[in-house]
Amino acid sequence: MDVRAFCSQSRVLIVAGKGGVGKTTMVAALAHLAAGAGLSVLVVELEGRSGVGAAFGQEEELGYAGSVLRAAGASLAGDGSNAGGDGDGTAVIPPGTVQARTITPDDALLEYLADHGLKRVSKRLMSSGIVDIVAGAIPGIRDILVLGKIKQIERSGIADLVLVDAPATGHTMTFLSSAGGLLDAARGGPIRTQAADVVELLSDPTRCQVALVTLPEEMPVNEVIEAAYQLEDRVGIALGPVIVNACYTPVAGLDVPAEDAVAAAGVTLDPSMVSSLEAARRFRQTRHELQEEQLQRLGHELPLPQLRVPFLFTSAIGPHELDLLTDALATGVKELHDPAQVPS
Ligand SMILES: Nc1ncnc2c1ncn2[C@@H]1O[C@H](COP(=O)(O)OP(=O)(O)OP(=O)(O)O)[C@@H](O)[C@H]1O
Ligand SMILES: [Mg+2]
Repeated sequence: MDVRAFCSQSRVLIVAGKGGVGKTTMVAALAHLAAGAGLSVLVVELEGRSGVGAAFGQEEELGYAGSVLRAAGASLAGDGSNAGGDGDGTAVIPPGTVQARTITPDDALLEYLADHGLKRVSKRLMSSGIVDIVAGAIPGIRDILVLGKIKQIERSGIADLVLVDAPATGHTMTFLSSAGGLLDAARGGPIRTQAADVVELLSDPTRCQVALVTLPEEMPVNEVIEAAYQLEDRVGIALGPVIVNACYTPVAGLDVPAEDAVAAAGVTLDPSMVSSLEAARRFRQTRHELQEEQLQRLGHELPLPQLRVPFLFTSAIGPHELDLLTDALATGVKELHDPAQVPS
């Protein structure tokens, strides 16, 4: 499948998965992939500091107004001069550019009130703590404010692709089902309208999809299968391919015992060194086999295409590593079938 077509399947892509599986890293790689294909990208961070900028070589904290992570036509592994600068929360993002911003319920509420002619009271409401009281009384209202803001961004057309770095799975489920819950509870008024708009967004696969991220290990695979079915059943949201992050790449010659490899190379090594090499070989081989087993199981139990991303032996993901991860995603995407070309 063509990379640009892949990245244009829905305007909003929510990247979700268990804590620590690499959601933020995959958001960065998907953003880089889409921008490289000429799309304009807005990354939306929902909770605290996700550190999405670090992969682009930028350490500054993101703001509500947004910052530019990648300028059009930039090569990341270069001198880093691509990054930096502030975005404007409302301006159209140029093609090939990645911007990132945060959305918090409080800011979204302030903006909502300001848009509805209540700017003067909004600050006072916030400082009086009434928002927390209302949020306590109406479960899901915070989530609706954030999703409502995402819907507004999607509708405004400022970016071709809006990538949402979602909270860890359990919270994502609550977050995404909040609109349906409020729609059932509220009879009328602005909350119901907002909830209805959000439900409409989430249930339209041309506007919004979820990409689940997992690791090729037993527990994360179990969790991603459960999450996928729950998202489809409870939220009714379309699922894109599952991104399997941190896969061990095959190493040539790993099936040859260390002793034989040493003999074949015609070198003499201390026996303790040979046994260490053999232990390392077996460890890597076993890991690889276990991962393969989990990948097969995932394929059987969850009929979604997989995009496999390699585990990089590095202490941090910076621009160079981001290039490698993005290349791996691009290779996987090119191998995917184009749904438009599959006869139904
Ligand atoms: N393919 C990879 N190879 C090597 N390291 C990786 C890879 N993907 C992610 N990491 C590292 O794993 C750690 C967790 O990744 P990341 O922050 O993207 O996960 P997350 O799912 O967003 O976590 P959280 O749930 O805390 O938000 C980070 O230190 C990141 O640099
Ligand atoms: Mg994260």
